[in-house]
Amino acid sequence: MPPQPHEILDYILIDSNPLRARIAELGRQITADYQGQTLMLVGILKGSMLFMADLMRYIEVPHTVDFMDVSAYGAGARQSSGDVRILMDLHSPIEGQHVLIVEDIIDSGHTMDHVLRLLQARRPASLKVCTLLDKAERREVPIKLDYVGFEIPNVFVFGYGLDIDEYYRNLPYIAVVKPGIDLSHE
Ligand code: PRP
Repeated sequence: MPPQPHEILDYILIDSNPLRARIAELGRQITADYQGQTLMLVGILKGSMLFMADLMRYIEVPHTVDFMDVSAYGAGARQSSGDVRILMDLHSPIEGQHVLIVEDIIDSGHTMDHVLRLLQARRPASLKVCTLLDKAERREVPIKLDYVGFEIPNVFVFGYGLDIDEYYRNLPYIAVVKPGIDLSHE
């Protein structure tokens, strides 16, 4: 059994109310920016699933949703080498569509760099990025971010879609792991 959240949680970085408020703001901004257009939201699994579900409720332009599952190569490859594997591709073509990628966190930037190159080659009408969290300090590849929920410091976070060893994605807040917790299986 994985430990209870309170056993591994150091502090809550972003609680559910500020999360909801900021996501509502992002939704309103996206609604304003895409006025008169239709939009295709592309979620990167699995971390983006809660963010996507909440964000789309605040987007009031007509939109479709699709998902890709992308992973860094090799077990325990969190310190991304830049090799990114497509585990599940989109179901729909994106040519001529206004595409907005929805991601939970940009860390080194390797995952998003790969996804952007892949999707740009499919000739969408536009391609932008919306990330809930930006750990800018860790960036290894520059990425242009169009919508950012929160810039966060270089701490290990979990909850609200982000996992530790696949658990805790259901937590309604984003928390920081206690120092000394073994994250080797993340
Ligand atoms: C996380 C996150 C991003 C990526 C960011 O995904 O959701 O996709 O890492 O890291 P990077 O900027 O260093 O590439 P992860 O591979 O942990 O998969 P998950 O979303 O299924 O948890």
